[in-house]
Amino acid sequence: MIFVRPNIEALSPYVPGEQPSANDQLKLNTNESPYSPPDSVIQALHAVSGELLRRYPPATSENFRSIAARTHGVKPEQIIATHGGDELLRLAFTVFCTPGNGSGTTSRGAAVMTPSYSLYDVLAAIQDTPLHRIELTEAFEIPAGAESRLAHSGCGLALVVNPHAPSGRRTPVQRLAALADVCPGVLLVDEAYVDFADEDALSLVTGPNAKKNVLLLRSLSKGYALAGIRFGYGIADPAIIQHLDKARDSYNLNVVSQRLAEAALEARETYRSLWTQVRKDREDLRLGLQQLGFVVFPSETNFLLATHPGGVAKTKSLFAHLKAQQIYVRYFPVPGLEDKLRITVGTAVQHQRLLAAVTRHLDVG
Ligand SMILES: Cc1ncc(COP(=O)(O)O)c(C=O)c1O
Repeated sequence: MIFVRPNIEALSPYVPGEQPSANDQLKLNTNESPYSPPDSVIQALHAVSGELLRRYPPATSENFRSIAARTHGVKPEQIIATHGGDELLRLAFTVFCTPGNGSGTTSRGAAVMTPSYSLYDVLAAIQDTPLHRIELTEAFEIPAGAESRLAHSGCGLALVVNPHAPSGRRTPVQRLAALADVCPGVLLVDEAYVDFADEDALSLVTGPNAKKNVLLLRSLSKGYALAGIRFGYGIADPAIIQHLDKARDSYNLNVVSQRLAEAALEARETYRSLWTQVRKDREDLRLGLQQLGFVVFPSETNFLLATHPGGVAKTKSLFAHLKAQQIYVRYFPVPGLEDKLRITVGTAVQHQRLLAAVTRHLDVG
């Protein structure tokens, strides 16, 4: 018999959205971009030589970090590049949360707003660290008492997705600043979807009033149409970055993804038109769903959370009906989300197909 740590033995792993391989599929379930990255990014891929592949990649992604620093007006020491935003999350749990689920007087767990990205729960279980849950309101807003609950949580790490997943709602930066001020540990603001939002939280980590305990997460998977290369990064005070850096794999990012990520950040201006298009299509889809009777949450992301007018049973049957037609959206069978579908913003043509299928299902009753 092999020995497995009891917390891993008991763990329910993270369930990613399906990646079906059928030809006729319409994939609106994992918030990927409906558009390809710009030509300059594809050219960077073609420019990868055998000689480059023969050698180990830059260990600290220094070129990417200088480009990201220049992009955001911070120093390269304030950036860490990671294998998707997910690696940054894993590093944050490793560095700021103590293992051993609450034993010992110096125990530091994690605080999360519920519901949110379900990977947080899995990472807490892997680290075997206590998880302090702060329930969001029914409208997915941070509740009035969150500051005092956070202050008393004794956490080493608090996580807030902003704009929020799975609702799409954005919390103003002033509120995040108030949370950071009372947070006993590091406040990680997960900005995986920020490219589609009206405001970001960069002001928390830049300038004279920068907070020493805030860590921003950025991802190239959504806004940069690069989910396939697994690339994300963190922005924070150099002290936070230094500690995270000690805990990462020595060569955590391969050379191909580094080159593509560098080209992507350099092409930020080209991407802006893509983000504008997604915001326009998001509004069109929202109106289309509303006309069919769905209640749709205000979203500043590339997805919408839509409440089915017919309740839980109809939501489940619509989800199955769409899947049978190769239309994939996301359903979360957890309290508060059981009568809702999360739908990635696609193209106008994709929306037509989705809305037609939804209409047929509603007509049949
Ligand atoms: C809220 C949130 N944070 C972080 C991530 C991680 O993104 P990635 O690892 O693809 O950069 C995701 C991915 O779906 C997400 O939804």
